Amino acid sequence: MNNLFDLSGKRALITGSARGIGNVLAKGLAQYGAEIIINDRDQQKADMAARLLVAEGYSATGYAFDVTQSVQVETAIAEIEKNIGPIDILINNAGIQRRHPFIEFPEQEWDDVIEVNQKGVFLVSQQVAKYMIKRSAGKIINIGSMQSELGRKTITPYAATKGAVKMLTRGMCVELAEHNIQVNSIAPGYFDTDMTEALVNDEAFSSWLYQRTPAARWGKPEELIGAAVFLASSASNYVNGHMLFVDGGMLAAV
Ligand SMILES: NC(=O)c1ccc[n+]([C@@H]2O[C@H](COP(=O)([O-])OP(=O)(O)OC[C@H]3O[C@@H](n4cnc5c(N)ncnc54)[C@H](O)[C@@H]3O)[C@@H](O)[C@H]2O)c1
Repeated sequence: MNNLFDLSGKRALITGSARGIGNVLAKGLAQYGAEIIINDRDQQKADMAARLLVAEGYSATGYAFDVTQSVQVETAIAEIEKNIGPIDILINNAGIQRRHPFIEFPEQEWDDVIEVNQKGVFLVSQQVAKYMIKRSAGKIINIGSMQSELGRKTITPYAATKGAVKMLTRGMCVELAEHNIQVNSIAPGYFDTDMTEALVNDEAFSSWLYQRTPAARWGKPEELIGAAVFLASSASNYVNGHMLFVDGGMLAAV
């Protein structure tokens, strides 16, 4: 029981992890012993992020694919399983944001958000789960959001996809738990990353955030590592279909 959170000997694939939250989670899982596969759309960026981890003494490989492209995803997962090794942990982190008032939202941007944030989770999980089922073991962690529960002006498609991530998590849990695959979700509140740069730089938004969040501050991406290690490790072996909010208490408050 001393090693409940130990990830030694485990291999984790984290989508969209060349930067941002995914990159911080990659390093966090590596610190707990996991071998990391950095995924992003661009091979050079994935390789660079992997090299930085290796330079710090961790084990990491860059592997680019676009989570929205089913053929690329199927090929990539098969190659990773064959040439690098079994994927024990999958974090579906790749995500995009587009902002427009609802009545002006361009159809193409609606499609783009749905493809990455929703279909991407489906495609990658489906391929990875096939191999996990054969081994009767696996951890899948989907990155949700405050918008899995709360709406906000100008980001309706994003909220629709993050609400879907909550139900994808539950649906996958219902079918995969009997194979000893735990599917759960982490829902971050507001974290300071490239995705939220415009909001961080917007004084009015930040002061609203300080009032609205019981913790009265932005989250630091490192503060998501504990939840990820918990859900990736044997500490959560009977936790299934859960969405863990790491939000400074925002969801608890009106
Ligand atoms: N930053 C926040 O406050 C916040 C809050 C809640 C949820 N989230 C979620 O956390 C996740 C990471 O967000 P972030 O803030 O680090 O964003 P980010 O923009 O910094 O990083 C997202 C990464 O995903 C990659 N990506 C995008 N489309 C891809 C695709 N089709 N295939 C592969 N990779 C792709 C990008 O290249 C980028 O490296 C997202 O799912 C986001 O919705 C973020």
